[in-house]
Amino acid sequence: MDFSNPAELVAFVSDALPTFKSTGEARELSGGNLNYVWRVFGERQSVVVKHAPPFIARVPEIPISPQRIRIEASVLRLFEVPPLQLLASDDIRPPRLLYADEKRHTIILEDVGDLVHLDRLEMPGMDIGSKLGSFFGQLHRSTFQHRSMETIDNLAIQQTRLEVQYASIGALLSSLGFSSAEELGEKARKLGEKYLTKGKCLTMGDLWPRSVLADTDRRQIRIIDWEFAHYGRPAQDVAHFLAHLWMLGHRAPSAAQRTGIMQLQRAFIEGYMSALGPAQKLLFNEEEIKDAGIHFGAEILVRTIGNFQNGYLYDGLPPDHPKVRAAVDMAVRCLEDPLALWNEQRPE
Ligand SMILES: Nc1ncnc2c1ncn2[C@@H]1O[C@H](COP(=O)(O)OP(=O)(O)OP(=O)(O)O)[C@@H](O)[C@H]1O
Ligand SMILES: [Mg+2]
Repeated sequence: MDFSNPAELVAFVSDALPTFKSTGEARELSGGNLNYVWRVFGERQSVVVKHAPPFIARVPEIPISPQRIRIEASVLRLFEVPPLQLLASDDIRPPRLLYADEKRHTIILEDVGDLVHLDRLEMPGMDIGSKLGSFFGQLHRSTFQHRSMETIDNLAIQQTRLEVQYASIGALLSSLGFSSAEELGEKARKLGEKYLTKGKCLTMGDLWPRSVLADTDRRQIRIIDWEFAHYGRPAQDVAHFLAHLWMLGHRAPSAAQRTGIMQLQRAFIEGYMSALGPAQKLLFNEEEIKDAGIHFGAEILVRTIGNFQNGYLYDGLPPDHPKVRAAVDMAVRCLEDPLALWNEQRPE
């Protein structure tokens, strides 16, 4: 099957969804790096096709397990039945899975339309932050020690994350001359190794602003891209999102936009913690808060001076640029004292 041929793509969708009446038109969607994603147009509605090659679509030299698409399909199916079905509302939910071809590593999704990625949303604020916090708090809480969720086992992706993210921190810091590079690199590497061991709850795994789509009046939020989902640990979602919000605020084009992002961040934490309720002590205890600080630091480093600088907020800036230096200093502070992140960022 050659998906780059629009006729084959359209035929694939028509075979998979017999009631779908195609217009014959398909368009590649930009925005992703790992997979090939297209919109296939129908007479009544369009659908989205996502195909995972056994490498990074935009960097074919880097192999990555195509099983990731099976994980995405499995999680989207979980949202069709309790307990996750209870989280999905028209206000906030993932797109619906329409079809999965696991042999061809391809899924067909409901097209949620041309919504805005969170990093492009003008004046994000508290409402979106609390909805997101509450959604992810409920996701973690309702799947905590849930045996059937353990099948969402994305070890191949956790192994890749260990190699390309956590294990790269020591060398990155050493390239900037930090005397603590080895010690901090070791902390990050150990966290990546811990993420290969048994987890606590279902995590989304790639909770960054481009996985969050919203309409401009924020009535509808759609969480896309569940291929990194894993029965893992909450910090990998919470700290990941907080790191991205911190970077968005740091690179915000205006003071007003920065304030909106900070409000969102505060509302996210509040919404998250209150949705955890009594499970907070088990799910987001001191150990988890420390891990969150380490992940937060590691994520900022790979986005500013590491493997994932390209195409994002610090793209093209040299390591001695004041904004990069400030971000690196923040990351190092959190790696040195992981509790600092929480003590500083958590709302009163
Ligand atoms: N169900 C959907 N409805 C509408 N648009 C979508 C849908 N799924 C994805 N898109 C669009 O396609 C883009 C790429 O999709 P997605 O993020 O799933 O790809 P990816 O290759 O996994 O990305 P990444 O490299 O970030 O992992 C999204 O940013 C979004 O704009
Ligand atoms: Mg993805």
